[in-house]
Amino acid sequence: MRIDLVSIFPGYFDVLELSLMGRAKRKGLIDVRVHDLRDAAHDRHRTVDDTPAGGGAGMVMKPEPWGEVLDGILSEAASAAGAGGGGEAGSAVPGGTPQAGERAEQAAEQAETPSPEEPLIVFPSPAGEVFDQRMARELAGERHLVFGCGRYEGIDQRVFDEYAERGRVRLVSIGDYVLNGGEVAAIAMIEAIARLVPGVVGNPESLVEESHEAEGLLEYPSYTKPAEWRGRSVPPVLLSGDHAAVEAWRREQRIERTRRVRPELLPRELRGEARGRHAAD
Ligand code: ADE
Repeated sequence: MRIDLVSIFPGYFDVLELSLMGRAKRKGLIDVRVHDLRDAAHDRHRTVDDTPAGGGAGMVMKPEPWGEVLDGILSEAASAAGAGGGGEAGSAVPGGTPQAGERAEQAAEQAETPSPEEPLIVFPSPAGEVFDQRMARELAGERHLVFGCGRYEGIDQRVFDEYAERGRVRLVSIGDYVLNGGEVAAIAMIEAIARLVPGVVGNPESLVEESHEAEGLLEYPSYTKPAEWRGRSVPPVLLSGDHAAVEAWRREQRIERTRRVRPELLPRELRGEARGRHAAD
């Protein structure tokens, strides 16, 4: 997977060198490229923002530097795909070899409908659709993601409109709170997405049991040695060696935790289950 990041603070993305992400980069599983938006601001002060049209507080990011950087990324990706870098979308023709007319029609359709092979531009924004594990899975299937990280009061709306018309764009929020810019949101999303890319996480089984994966339930509590710490014991069932009992206990814990902390996540068919001892809740 290729990931391009556009920001006026490229240093934010140094954390992607660490831990699993760093290893994924070194193994060539994730190809991360960071672009400094100010490199496309050509005045003496490398200005990337200006006062809002219509007045008001704060500053808005100017469209021109965004246009220059995003055009560069997209045209480079297009020529890489054209050079056999994976532009196979649409090359298989169902039902045999098309006639010239059909070919023209197909080409026109392809020009109008952005192909999933094209890069997806994600603009982190508190005004976007909310990121969750389902979206992480969806984005983990992309070949090329571009994160456009805005600052100040946001990016000139025409940037979104331009690239939505030409290709694939999503505005995505990581939650109902406001950050100073999109960089931290992009890092959070990239971590959630990249660990779903095959090979990034060593043991794929660890992905399945995690919160928000199996049945949409939260994770069960975990324990390790020693069996007793400050008078607190590891639940005896976990030391019993009875795998079926351990599994049953973990499932019950997940259901109860979800019911207590995030009742809206509890699947309908589990609403009555494992309730017995908690009738007073
Ligand atoms: N930029 C500022 N706040 C944000 C949020 N909550 N999610 C994504 N991008 C943001």
